[in-house]
Amino acid sequence: MENEQILGVDKAHVWHPYSSMDSVHPVYPVASASGVRLILSDGRELIDGMSSWWCAIHGYNHPEINRALEAQLQKMSHVMFGGLTHQPAVDLVTQLVALTPDALQSVFFSDSGSVSVEVAMKMAIQYWYAKGQSSKKYFLTIRNGYHGDTFGAMSVCDPVTGMHSLFQDTLTQQYFVDAPSCSFGQPCSDVDIAAFEQTLKTEKEHIAAVIMEPIVQGAGGMRFYSAEYLKRVRELCDQHHVLLILDEIATGLGRTGKLFACNHADVTPDIMCIGKALTGGYMTLAATLTNKDISDTISQGDPGVFMHGPTFMANPLACTAALTSLQLLLASPWQSNISRIEKQLASGLEPCRAINGVTDVRVLDAIGVVELDKPVDMAVIQPLFVDAGVWIRPYGKLVYLMPPFIIENEDLEEVTTAVVDILSNYPLKL
Ligand SMILES: Cc1ncc(COP(=O)(O)O)c(C=O)c1O
Repeated sequence: MENEQILGVDKAHVWHPYSSMDSVHPVYPVASASGVRLILSDGRELIDGMSSWWCAIHGYNHPEINRALEAQLQKMSHVMFGGLTHQPAVDLVTQLVALTPDALQSVFFSDSGSVSVEVAMKMAIQYWYAKGQSSKKYFLTIRNGYHGDTFGAMSVCDPVTGMHSLFQDTLTQQYFVDAPSCSFGQPCSDVDIAAFEQTLKTEKEHIAAVIMEPIVQGAGGMRFYSAEYLKRVRELCDQHHVLLILDEIATGLGRTGKLFACNHADVTPDIMCIGKALTGGYMTLAATLTNKDISDTISQGDPGVFMHGPTFMANPLACTAALTSLQLLLASPWQSNISRIEKQLASGLEPCRAINGVTDVRVLDAIGVVELDKPVDMAVIQPLFVDAGVWIRPYGKLVYLMPPFIIENEDLEEVTTAVVDILSNYPLKL
């Protein structure tokens, strides 16, 4: 198909994420991708600054993941997981149990981050149900969070920035407190945690679990908060008998310079969600991990089973991609790559501070954020980035970067230079 034909069919029939079928925003056909480059079907090459939304940590078309998948394809691409198991799932589970905090011993696979959050929330509710405390069925979370687009996940996303406000009347009403005002690297005072503590204390009979993204709040605002705050949350959850769910879907597997962001606070959640980078961006797979207390209580209580079972649970190809991706990550100098990327993001984005309309520039490990005073016009800014040869996908007031860990300095410099140049000239193009 020619470029024009692809775009014609796309325009007529395809719905893109968070978009209108009448969208005037451009979409770009990608013919292939390799390393840190997306190759468009018109031949242009774009350096990837997004890792396809946190996923493609090793870049694209990685020969080792390709090889592992081709070998697995010769055996089987999928079998149901009810009553059956297989080597890729068992190998992956062994690796995940070894890498995550020690207490997390039971792993439930699902197809996407949002579903793994639903699974986590159901685990928490079923845990208290099995203990005869079925009034504990709501969740406490912090504003500016994002946990996915399914109904349970939407109910714990920020009610305003969470993009889901129109479903407000349909969603279960959960408990919210303001996002931490203490930033990463800062201490957390009694005042910082007061509202959280108060809500937990007064509503603990109704709260099954606290759910939050550790350290980095992603799509709800790209905010980085204090590790001490997370530590205090863990202590308060223990004190008030409320479970702690940490959503590591965006942060997990190295992005924040630790394997998991909860490692910054030395905190072990009761339930943890992992997704996105799990398969190195090859295909969709997520996991919800929990401890023995929760898995035993659910398994031994009424109704004696955990009530969830996706058709494509533990898909062997996805498990193979994940296992190979984890092996690649662990064998690579990922920590020095992340600190190299952090340094370069910090120096490369620094000039943005002087640009009119920029309200903040912040960098945490392999995440760089430029915040503006008003939302960007995607119809204007997206083509500017593409013309500059980089793939950056801003949203709202945020122009943000989370490049593949393998990106080299020269390529990253092109990406940050494009951000500086385009933001400097962008208001003139409006
Ligand atoms: C922290 C977090 N949780 C959950 C999700 C949802 O994951 P998925 O899009 O795979 O359903 C996302 C996706 O952006 C996320 O960043």
